[in-house]
Amino acid sequence: MSVLVLVCSTRPGALGPAVGDWLMKTITPRAAELGAELLPVALRDLDLPFLDEEEQPSSGIYQHEHTRRWSALVDSADGFLVVTPEYNYGMPATLKNALDYLCREWAWKPIGFVSYGNTSAGTRSVQHAKQVVTTLRLVPLGSTVAMRIADATENGRVRPNAALDGAAVGVLDELVRAAHALRPMREPTRGGALSGPLPGSYLRPLTPDDAPEVTVLQRCCWVDEAMANDTLAVPALHESSEQVHEWLATWHTLGLWRDGRLLGMVRARRVDTDWHVGRLGVVPDLRGHGVGRWLLRTAEAAVDPECRRIVLFTGANSRQNIKLYQSEGYQLAPLADVDGTACLTKEVTL
Ligand SMILES: Cc1cc2nc3c(=O)[nH]c(=O)nc-3n(C[C@H](O)[C@H](O)[C@H](O)COP(=O)(O)O)c2cc1C
Repeated sequence: MSVLVLVCSTRPGALGPAVGDWLMKTITPRAAELGAELLPVALRDLDLPFLDEEEQPSSGIYQHEHTRRWSALVDSADGFLVVTPEYNYGMPATLKNALDYLCREWAWKPIGFVSYGNTSAGTRSVQHAKQVVTTLRLVPLGSTVAMRIADATENGRVRPNAALDGAAVGVLDELVRAAHALRPMREPTRGGALSGPLPGSYLRPLTPDDAPEVTVLQRCCWVDEAMANDTLAVPALHESSEQVHEWLATWHTLGLWRDGRLLGMVRARRVDTDWHVGRLGVVPDLRGHGVGRWLLRTAEAAVDPECRRIVLFTGANSRQNIKLYQSEGYQLAPLADVDGTACLTKEVTL
C-alpha cells in the first residue's frame, strides 16, 4: 500500500511545504500501523511545465522524461493525499496541470484532501478539485482536513492541534480502506491481466502478497482430494500462509479473480526438461463451468520452450482429476507413487 502525499503550491515561501511536513509527521505512525508507505512529493520539485505532450494522456504515449517520471510515480501509488491551497476560489493551476498530464494512472484510486486558506479554509479549492478528479476515475474521500490559516498556523508552521491531528489520521484511515476496496476495480485493466472464462473474471500472475487468499483457496479446494484419497496428508491443506508466501516466489502462478475474490489458480515451473503443472484448484461453487480446464490450458500455453513434457501429480484415487487430465491428453505414468500419488504426463507439441 503506497500513498503519495502531494504538496501542490510552488511559490517561493509558500505555506504548502509546512502543511505537508505537519501532515507527514502526524500520520506517519498510523501509516506504519496500517502497513502503508508514505511517499512525499512536491510539485515544485517535479518541474512539470504546462502540459506539453503531443498525444492525449489517454494514449499513454509520453515523449518527455518529466511526463514518464510523473507517470511512474502516480502509477505506483495506491492512493493520494493532496495538500492544496485555495487560489481564487479554486484549486491551484499546478494541481490541475499535474492531473491533466495523465489518465489511466489515476483510475480507481482514492484521493483525500488537506486544504488551507483564509475564510473558507480552502474548501472551495477541494470542491473544485473533486469535480475534476472524478473525470479521471479518481475517487475523492468524504473525510478532509481544512485549515483556516489564521487559526491553524503561527509563524508559517501548523500550530499543535489535537482535533486537526485526529482529522488527518481519519483521512489516512479512510484512504487506506478505500484503496484496498478499489483494488479489484483497478486490476482487470492493469498490465499482465487477461480476460478470464467467466464474465467479469480476469487472470493475473499471483505474487507472495497473495499468500492469504491462496491459503484460503487451498484449504477449501483440497478437501475433496483428502476425502477421495482418505488421507489428510495433503500438503495444500496444511501449508501455512508463510509457506505459501515462500513458494509463490519460486513458481509461476496464475490466479483467476472476480470482484476481489480468488476463484481459481494453477502453478507451473520448469524442472529439467519437464514443465511441472500443479495446484490446479477452483472454488467449489464454480466447478463444472470449464474453469479448471481453462486454467490447465493456460498453464500449458506458458510452457518453457526448452521443455519436452508436461508433468502433473494428483491423488491416486482422485478420479475426477484424472478424468479431466486424460480428457486433455495426459497419460497415467505406469507406476503409481508409493505415497498414493498418480503422475500424469503429456508430450509438448510444438
Ligand atoms: C494567487 C492566490 C490566490 C488566492 N486566493 C485565495 C482564495 O480564493 N481563497 C483563500 O482563502 N485564500 C486565497 N489566497 C490566500 C492563500 O490561501 C494563502 O496565501 C496561502 O498561503 C496560499 O498557499 P501557499 O502559501 O501554499 O501558496 C490566495 C493566494 C494566492 C497566492
